Formats: sequence, C-alpha cells, structure tokens
Amino acid sequence: MLKLGVNIDHVATLREARFRGRTVGEPDPVEAALVCERAGAHGITAHLREDRRHIQDRDVLALRQRIATRLNLEMALVPEIVEIALRVRPDIVCLVPERREEVTTEGGLDVVGQREAVSAISRRMKAAGIEVSLFIGPEPAQIEAAAAAGAPFIELHTGAYADRFLEGHGAEAELERLEKGAELARRLGLRVNAGHGLTVRNLPALLARVSHMEELNIGHSLVAGALSTGLEASVKAFLGVMGGYRLGPRP
Ligand code: PXP
Repeated sequence: MLKLGVNIDHVATLREARFRGRTVGEPDPVEAALVCERAGAHGITAHLREDRRHIQDRDVLALRQRIATRLNLEMALVPEIVEIALRVRPDIVCLVPERREEVTTEGGLDVVGQREAVSAISRRMKAAGIEVSLFIGPEPAQIEAAAAAGAPFIELHTGAYADRFLEGHGAEAELERLEKGAELARRLGLRVNAGHGLTVRNLPALLARVSHMEELNIGHSLVAGALSTGLEASVKAFLGVMGGYRLGPRP
C-alpha cells in the first residue's frame, strides 16, 4: 500500500508568523499531526532547519513522544542537527539540501558532490537504528551515488514535475524522468519514496506512470486544502487519490 507521510512544517510556519521566539502559540503542529494520524496518515514528516524558520526543537521532541506512526525528520548535513537526530531517534531521516534564501527545499541533494559526508551520516544513523533516505532529483548519477552511499531509501524530488504541471507544459518529460529514475533505483536495490509539490490534481498522472513508490511526503497543498475542508478531510482526499496505486509498489 502506498503510504502518506504528512509534512507538518506548514502548520509551524503559520504559528511562527505570529509567535516567533516564543514557546507558546497556535496552530500547534503536534496537534495537527495527531489529527492527520486519526485521519489515516501513515507517518509525520518535519524539517528541523538550521535557521529554525518553522519547526522548533521542542516540536521534534513532542512529535517523537506523542505520535503513534512513523516520524520522518528532514535535515541538512549539519553537525548540530545530526546530533539532535541521534538524540531524538526518528524512525527515518531524510537528508535534504538547505539554503537560507530558499522558500522551501528547492533542489535535490548533491550526493555525487558530497558522497563522503552522506556516507558518514548514513553510517551513524544506521548504527543508531535510524533509517536514511536521500532527497534527490531523478538524475541517474545521483541515484547511483545514493546506492553507493549505502542509503536504503531515496525520495524522488517531484517539484519539477509539479511546476511543469502547473505551467501546463513539460510535465510529460518530467514524468518520464521520474519513471526512469524509479526503475533505476529499484534495479540498484534502493527503496523509493517521492514528494514535493504534490496535489490531488497532479497525483493521478504521477501514480499512473511511476512504479515502485512506497511513500509520498505531502505538505503544502494538504495543509492549504485544510483551510477550506478541514485537516481530516484534506488528509482523506489525498488518501482517496493514492488508494488506487497498484503499479508495482514494493512491500
Ligand atoms: N519532501 C521533502 C524532502 C521536502 O523538503 C518537502 C517540503 O518541505 C516535501 C516533501 C513536501 O513538499 P510540499 O510541501 O510541497 O508538499
């Protein structure tokens, strides 16, 4: 079954817009995570950025203590955050690039250029019983480097597909890159997740084309949808679209 990981950073972004620097405030991303779980989400994803622009350290601790599903901690290759991850022990970490000026995680991780650092962090996480995923674009060189780095999972960056879909041209070429990327990853023994920019509108074509996906991590559109339908209904809307996925997902 294709799993849904809900990225709750966007809930924290709204809280920080009003309550930055304080330890109180609404909305609470942890409460939102619990609602998502009740609605059927299979996991919760949070990105502890070095600049702490949305999720705070206390959120990660509370998520670890309170959620019943899997915790996926997105993080950059930053020593401070690596130590936090080793202390908090999420079920899985997803290594992502981070630039201070970006609005969200804009590109994939350059595993080719940072193979040593990625391998070293992967080894430490593995030793601590934490799974590792690498957030990369569907480029063959990056996928091969991910396999060589010893990470069990990649998360294919679907942002370029989502952008082309919105613009109304070029989505087909991006689907083909994702399809081939997922096939290559599987041949190399990698397990495949995907995420970024996914919506109930652009998901059907992705699900029809790209095999082997185990989990989708979805945040912005799901949280945006919650403003009109409620969070529970928004989670269920995504689960409804994902329920038809039968194209060879791995166990
Ligand atoms: N996966 C990763 C690695 C991300 O950085 C993000 C964005 O925070 C997502 C998934 C979710 O993307 P979106 O918020 O566009 O659904």
